[in-house]
Amino acid sequence: MAKTQPIIERHDARMTLNYPRWSIAIDSGQGCVLVDADGKEYLDLFSGFGAGILGHCHPDLVAAGTKQMNKLWHVGNLLHTEPQTLLAEQVARKGFGGRSFFSHSGADANEAAVKLARLYGKANPGVSANDWGRYKIISATLSFHGRSFATMGATGNEAVRQGFEPLLPGFVNVEYNSIPAIEAELDETAVAIIVEPIQGEGGVNVPEDNYLPRLRKLCDERDMLLICDEVWTGCGRTGKWFGYQHWGVEPDIMTLGKAVGCGLPLGVMCANERAAAFFDVTKMGRVTHATTLGGNCVTTAVAARMFEVLEHDGLVERAAKLGQTIATRLMKAAKKSPAIRQVRGRGLFLGIELDPAQSDGAFENGRQVVDRCLEQGVMLNVVQGNVIRLAPPLIVTDEQIDRGLDVLIDAIGK
Ligand SMILES: Cc1ncc(COP(=O)(O)O)c(C=O)c1O
Repeated sequence: MAKTQPIIERHDARMTLNYPRWSIAIDSGQGCVLVDADGKEYLDLFSGFGAGILGHCHPDLVAAGTKQMNKLWHVGNLLHTEPQTLLAEQVARKGFGGRSFFSHSGADANEAAVKLARLYGKANPGVSANDWGRYKIISATLSFHGRSFATMGATGNEAVRQGFEPLLPGFVNVEYNSIPAIEAELDETAVAIIVEPIQGEGGVNVPEDNYLPRLRKLCDERDMLLICDEVWTGCGRTGKWFGYQHWGVEPDIMTLGKAVGCGLPLGVMCANERAAAFFDVTKMGRVTHATTLGGNCVTTAVAARMFEVLEHDGLVERAAKLGQTIATRLMKAAKKSPAIRQVRGRGLFLGIELDPAQSDGAFENGRQVVDRCLEQGVMLNVVQGNVIRLAPPLIVTDEQIDRGLDVLIDAIGK
């Protein structure tokens, strides 16, 4: 008897029903292949919203995690441990130096960044006569930074915030990719700009080439902090270690989630010395931010190993190259099919914007295309209604990509 249905029924009887889950129950995974409870295989080009950067059960990660599990799990952040050290060193080496704070998710890495920005703005009030100094954080429309109270404020999506008012004050959302829109909010209370180098949930939106450099310049001119939310774009996915590196700028703070834990719950907030000083217990005379399990020995051991594997196997360079090959093939398909409106992104983080009106009745929305791919055993997802998001593990083979694209192009043309 098929096992999927009873699992789904029991699951849905006891779980909150907050996720629009597919009618699939996954039992195991290896590399880029998932197997459901009935034995059906799926080629995973979705990576669990980008978290599975090295696919499922990568042997090096299993070895690093198992070794650490047999040695030490958790001691609390009154003590030093080597896995935390190794991960902080990796983040600093691949990024802009800086100091790391470890959390459990992308949202709480951003939460830490927001708290740091508030402390920075209070200590550096500029001309603000406000008791709180500078506190306003500027973000973009279509952005996604999380669902905690602070990050809901930063997230530029009304549906995320709806019903949770009153929200935390001190956030403004302005048109994405527009410098004048940012400038209009640069009053004496503004302390930081938070931006995804490439927007993920917003539809894999790549900004104009001068957007990030201009944001950097505005922050420099006004002693503000530039926060790059690298939760989607971090850890090699876009063909660089971190997304900001495509534009030759450095943020003051970057945040990581998803891929950094390879599927385990881990977030990182890395800040330069100027900002990180406000989380320094000796300088501040008190603990200004903390968490019990953030930087747990097992998650950080796995994450540190992930950076080594990416580097050793040349997977970041490969993501850049393979991404170009995929984009070229999809753009060729777009020439034949007006239903493919645009292909965008970098590396193995690509968005294929569809236009149902141009599909000759083949599909009504992106979800239908995703469902057809799932039927054929290829897993992708859709954002913003009609943008198919391609975010495979970086270990994906050429053959797997070829097969995935065959199925996707066929599903669009049906
Ligand atoms: C850019 C970005 N930042 C933050 C988050 C929140 O991460 P998490 O779901 O781990 O809290 C997400 C989640 O999709 C994201 O895409």
